[in-house]
Amino acid sequence: MTRPVALITGPTSGIGTGFATRFAVDGHDLVLVARDADKLAALAANLRLTHGVEVEVLAADLSVAADREKVSERLAAGVDVLVNNAGFGTSGEFWTAEHALLQRQLDVNVTAVMDLTRAALPVMIARGSGRIVNVASVAGLVSGRGSTYSASKAWVVSFTEGLDGGLTGTGVRMMALCPGFVRTEFHSRAGIEMSTMPSFMWLTVDKLVAAAMRDLAKGKVISVPGAQYKVLTTASRLIPRGIVRQVAGRFGQARGRT
Ligand SMILES: NC(=O)c1ccc[n+]([C@@H]2O[C@H](COP(=O)([O-])OP(=O)(O)OC[C@H]3O[C@@H](n4cnc5c(N)ncnc54)[C@H](OP(=O)(O)O)[C@@H]3O)[C@@H](O)[C@H]2O)c1
Repeated sequence: MTRPVALITGPTSGIGTGFATRFAVDGHDLVLVARDADKLAALAANLRLTHGVEVEVLAADLSVAADREKVSERLAAGVDVLVNNAGFGTSGEFWTAEHALLQRQLDVNVTAVMDLTRAALPVMIARGSGRIVNVASVAGLVSGRGSTYSASKAWVVSFTEGLDGGLTGTGVRMMALCPGFVRTEFHSRAGIEMSTMPSFMWLTVDKLVAAAMRDLAKGKVISVPGAQYKVLTTASRLIPRGIVRQVAGRFGQARGRT
């Protein structure tokens, strides 16, 4: 019997490593996509050895159209699960940030999610089954904090909800995972100072991925792991948007990040 196949973007660190490990534990063969070929090879070797699954690696920079096309070709050959996880934030002000960096962020956080989802769907729909997890953020649900990053994640949430509705009856399901703060390389890579963030606001990768997988099994379209973030995102829907913006701007480090 062949094993189901999960393609995961950004598995060389953080949340993506957590998903790759979890799908391997659950008996999926893997296709791993990121830029760092050495880290991909090391992770693949470890997962093959530890879990006895087959692992393909695809070194690709998802901000580059030709690389997105390469990954799309693999998806068009058929996978059972797609996890659009690769993404990044940036520090500094929007009006002084390098334009090319902002464009790369849009291409990885948004364009890659659109292109890879579109490439994966025809085979999933033809088979009558498939799961797509798009890693968004609490930042995509709560307004008033940052600009391009939050906007990119709001796009992911809206895209996922809309498309999941459109896929009703096909057997294919979508889920937007909205993490709060998770201990990964994300903030150090972005140059965002987090030392003043209280410890109760931090989630671990293992707990986040476990909660996401439970929500995926339940058929949730939006997954917000962690009681603190469930309260935050629910309150932000009930409180007038202007007050949410003020509070987020004051306490949520709205300056110095895009
Ligand atoms: N950590 C948090 O607090 C947090 C909160 C909410 C949402 N998120 C979201 O969660 C997702 C994963 O983030 P993380 O926290 O795990 O961050 P991370 O530890 O920095 O990992 C990011 C992953 O994305 C890959 N990646 C980055 N740019 C890429 C590119 N141009 N092409 C291909 N792969 C690329 C990286 O691999 P290479 O460097 O090898 O390419 C790495 O594997 C992101 O979408 C992020 O926005 C994170």
